[in-house]
Amino acid sequence: MEETKKSLLDDSFTSAMTLTNSGVPQVPDRYVLPPSQRPALGSTSLGTTTTETTTLPVIDLSLLHQPSLRSRVIHEINMACKEFGFFQVINHGIPSSVVKDALDAATLFFDLPVEEKMRLVSANVHEPVRYGTSLNHSTDRVHYWRDFIKHYSHPLPKWIDMWPSNPPCYKEKVGKYAEATHVLHKQLIEAIAESLGLEKNYLQEEIEEGSQVMAVNCYPACPEPAIALGMPPHSDFSSLTILLQSSQGLQIMDHNKNWVRVPYIEGALIVQLGDQMEVMSNGIYKSVIHRVTVNKDVRRLSFASLHSLPLHKKISPAAKLVNGNNDNAEPAYGEFSFNDFLEYISSNDFIQQRFIDTIKKSSP
Ligand code: OGA
Ligand code: NI
Repeated sequence: MEETKKSLLDDSFTSAMTLTNSGVPQVPDRYVLPPSQRPALGSTSLGTTTTETTTLPVIDLSLLHQPSLRSRVIHEINMACKEFGFFQVINHGIPSSVVKDALDAATLFFDLPVEEKMRLVSANVHEPVRYGTSLNHSTDRVHYWRDFIKHYSHPLPKWIDMWPSNPPCYKEKVGKYAEATHVLHKQLIEAIAESLGLEKNYLQEEIEEGSQVMAVNCYPACPEPAIALGMPPHSDFSSLTILLQSSQGLQIMDHNKNWVRVPYIEGALIVQLGDQMEVMSNGIYKSVIHRVTVNKDVRRLSFASLHSLPLHKKISPAAKLVNGNNDNAEPAYGEFSFNDFLEYISSNDFIQQRFIDTIKKSSP
């Protein structure tokens, strides 16, 4: 046993799946978080509590299409974005069969032999298709109990040939889900722009040509879920992220810096505001800080679809939201592109300092 553990630790790349499948009774040292960063499941630690009492917003999207109810839904979206930068959506229009097929294809992918998955391994964050473990196995100081495959997904014909060709159904099934998410994200962006008092078609062209990164995450059962995490606290660089989860595990940080468990709702999808939305709204909406806990019993899968402006297109605060009634007002943020974010994470520890904090203008 000792020997098995040692040989796993010596490998420069060992996926979380490999560790779970080999039946390790403990997580290797590199996964053990400093006490102040542990999820403290169900208990209080160092001023941060995990709570289940906060009710998180759930929005029925089908009502957006009913002219007499649209403004009420836009108001609900406004409240959710201001309060949490987060909401769940039901009746979102993506058929449950499309969702199920995508999850099935992901399960088959992660169950492939390691050698097959390693064909796509890369530590280069600029790579459009990339298999990996933790956040970045080659640079992480603390590791996270997650394996992933990420791929650019829009426009689909440009990227799909580079996606995994195993399992054979992967491209078709995950492709259908990616396209459906892209359609849904356009409706959400329109509604969010409206909720900010902007034109419904604000940045429409850039959004149509925008980038979509699909992160397919696998969090295998973990022997020590109280001292490890699947993903550390972070916000997404995107304008918005549409997240599909197969079971509970996501937590978001509320205004009081408490961690709130996001309940699993059958058939629902999660919408999270990212840094591009915080900048575009000039800080009226904030990107949501979130993390992923792991558990002892079940493997959890998620699809995080990160939508943003095109790779090199800079986003900046909307003029209307900067000036308001005051023509001399200054924007609260500098501009940035998805590519700027990639450059930042290639050479900085984004857990120590959030990217968005580097582009905030300090108040005069
Ligand atoms: C992400 C992410 C959450 C989850 O991929 O950026 O936050 O539940 N995922 O997997
Ligand atoms: Ni995220």
